[in-house]
Amino acid sequence: MDIKYIKQIKSLILDDEIDFTNEINDFLNNSGFITFAANNTEDAYDILKNNNIDLFFLDVRLPGTSGIEVLKYVKSIYPDLEVIMVSAHGDMDTVIDSIRLGAFDYLRKPMRYIDLQIAIQRTHKYLQMQRKLVQAEKKYSLITSDMESKIGRHCIGKSKEIVDIYELVKTASQYQDINVLITGESGTGKEIFARLIHFMSNHSCNYFEAVNCSAINDSLFESEFFGHKKGSFTGAISDKKGLLEVCNEGTLFLDEIADMPYNLQSKLLRAIEDGKIRRVGDTKSIDTNFRLISATNCDLQKMIEEKRFRLDLLHRLNSLHIHIPPLRQRREDIGPLLIDFVEEFSEKFKKPIEYIAEDVFETLEKYDFPGNIRELRNMAERAIILSKATSLQLTDFPLTIRANCADNSKPVLNNTTKTMMKI
Ligand SMILES: Nc1ncnc2c1ncn2[C@@H]1O[C@H](COP(=O)(O)OP(=O)(O)OP(=O)(O)O)[C@@H](O)[C@H]1O
Ligand SMILES: [Mg+2]
Repeated sequence: MDIKYIKQIKSLILDDEIDFTNEINDFLNNSGFITFAANNTEDAYDILKNNNIDLFFLDVRLPGTSGIEVLKYVKSIYPDLEVIMVSAHGDMDTVIDSIRLGAFDYLRKPMRYIDLQIAIQRTHKYLQMQRKLVQAEKKYSLITSDMESKIGRHCIGKSKEIVDIYELVKTASQYQDINVLITGESGTGKEIFARLIHFMSNHSCNYFEAVNCSAINDSLFESEFFGHKKGSFTGAISDKKGLLEVCNEGTLFLDEIADMPYNLQSKLLRAIEDGKIRRVGDTKSIDTNFRLISATNCDLQKMIEEKRFRLDLLHRLNSLHIHIPPLRQRREDIGPLLIDFVEEFSEKFKKPIEYIAEDVFETLEKYDFPGNIRELRNMAERAIILSKATSLQLTDFPLTIRANCADNSKPVLNNTTKTMMKI
């Protein structure tokens, strides 16, 4: 069974009495299930084939065949499908046979709502537990939990694009001497991969420092990058190591590299080429061997043409180029990321979430996410905060997303005479 997500449970009821199937369908629908009904085996097999059903209510006596035969058949094809046998005859031998053949439970007709409710609750609990186990295995986490704690974040993804990037990152981590340029739209995870390159390397015990180049101006640059001697300028009250010295044998992450002022780009280039730095106010040079990882969401080639970025610096920064595609180009990652964020925030806000409605996944997978993963994360956080229930519904997500929704996949039930007994 390919359970990709915590999703709503899908059930199917097969019984030759139309009124009965409609009624149970109604009941299950109101209990939070996605429900399907069939009045003959062919329709039931079709529904099973096309809908990833989790729970199957199966009548023991069916025209032309027996429920036991159907049970054997469906269990052979869908071993993870949970089956509840339904019989008007209370035949103990059939009960025993069906349980031996893997049925989960057994209900008698005429059915009492309370019995149905108890059976549903039991199955629901069991399926949720099973799902959590499968999910734990299928988290689509690319890294070990040890690495997660080192970089301070999860790294989730199952798309070919992100798996390939992870492989590239692993390779980059093995070569301390290469500088890496990471490009991608805002919120795609550039910083995560920069951290991974460092923390997967043999140099992970040395410093990883991040600097936002848009915050570095002329007066700060030399002191920040090269350090200074005490008294070398007003305010230099003690000796200070610069980033390039701190990151000796480690990694300096130059975030928003496109924002580095043009005149400072040549100073950085010189430091990279020399492999030596001199603190402001000092006479002696210090050898330093740092790895640079730069990140940007700008088109550096275009900036070079516009004389806003130095071509020679780009060559130095770009021994290896990693481009992270936007989320809309790797939509398979949306589901696993959503689950991860929902787990994170439901734990943080102490709001347990049992399932995420299927149309949430369907709708989010169609949305373009201009803000990429950061936007998805914020959406999940907001949804958990707003949610009043133990499930997440489309209404917990912003209107802009819901506008894309075109959900008409759920079966429509008509109301018919009740055949179940209420107690
Ligand atoms: N693969 C992923 N798995 C889990 N979380 C992710 C992943 N990629 C990104 N995130 C999360 O998305 C958010 C944005 O990631 P990050 O800061 O690395 O993006 P960025 O590309 O550096 O963005 P910006 O260009 O705006 O600086 C963070 O909260 C990060 O934890
Ligand atoms: Mg960033």
